[in-house]
Amino acid sequence: MRTQALGGRRLSPVIQLLAMLVAPAALAQGTAQGAKLFTQRCGSCHSVGEGDRVGPDLHGVLERRDEAWVTRFLKSPGALIDSGDAVATGLLKQFNGVRMPDQALSDDERASLFAFFRDCTAKGKGSCKPSPAAKPGTDATPEEIARGRRLFEGTEPLTNGGAACLGCHDVRGVGVAGGGTLGPNLTFTFARLGDRGVTPLLAKLDTPLMRGLYAKTPLTAEEQYAVKAYLADVSRDGSRPRQDRDFFYLGIVGLIAALGFIGLVWGPRGTDPRAH
Ligand code: HEC
Ligand code: HEC
Repeated sequence: MRTQALGGRRLSPVIQLLAMLVAPAALAQGTAQGAKLFTQRCGSCHSVGEGDRVGPDLHGVLERRDEAWVTRFLKSPGALIDSGDAVATGLLKQFNGVRMPDQALSDDERASLFAFFRDCTAKGKGSCKPSPAAKPGTDATPEEIARGRRLFEGTEPLTNGGAACLGCHDVRGVGVAGGGTLGPNLTFTFARLGDRGVTPLLAKLDTPLMRGLYAKTPLTAEEQYAVKAYLADVSRDGSRPRQDRDFFYLGIVGLIAALGFIGLVWGPRGTDPRAH
């Protein structure tokens, strides 16, 4: 314990020095983090440089407003509106009485958003279309889901020439005769891995078998998003059609898994009941 504490104390000036050296890199990282955060938490209501949506266009927001005001507003738009703040109540009226929901943002997250806003202003209007792939798969429009399905099936070719997913993957309801079986069935992948798991997977397709195929033909950001939206959609209505043939297969898989489990439990324990 003591040596550890000592080690920590001796390290800290080094860490501080390192922090100074990597500060510009950290800033760039803050911008990237802010862009991602913006897409996930703000992009459904705001654009940066593409006009008003549910809420105002945030291009140049830190130039037209005081940073302290924006900080107060972000901590609680509701509280600022209720306090009678003239700007906040004016915005509320201008945006049809839609109240921006309170955002639970840490200081770091707010700082990264500010870095992103400043970067957008520096680059000029229209330069900040945050990566579409970061948008949650569950926020998709029906068109995006439909496109994802076409890309998956190969009825719409992938921009960079990658192979259609259907060749190796089945998804409930896909294609006419279902998909291939070399890769796992992806019906419940989104439900199992979540947005955070699926997004980086689709960005790289970097598993042992897919790596060789897609390293040179990655999906574009829009394609990644469409496929994610499609996978989110198929995993969501997972409880619907009982007569669907996939339930037959799922049943078999379940049975095999159950048998395997019984084998595991009874096999080794047959000789020693205290094995666990
Ligand atoms: C559900 C929609 C919604 C979401 C999500 C949302 N906002 Fe807003 N935002 C609004 C609306 C509407 C307004 C106008 C003020 C009002 O009516 O509350 C607004 C106003 C603002 C303003 C003031 C703009 C100005 O011109 O002064 C800022 C800054 C802001 N939002 C930042 C954010 C950030 C950052 C996020 C994400 C962390 C976010 N908003 C998420 C709807 C939203
Ligand atoms: C050549 C066959 C092949 C093609 C084509 C293919 N995959 Fe895969 N995929 C696999 C295999 C096999 C795995 C299992 C991991 C491994 O062994 O590489 C996998 C794993 C995955 C996983 C992880 C599944 C999980 O539950 O962990 C996802 C997501 C995925 N593929 C998506 C796609 C998408 C999207 C496409 C089309 C753009 C695609 N795959 C095209 C063979 C393929």
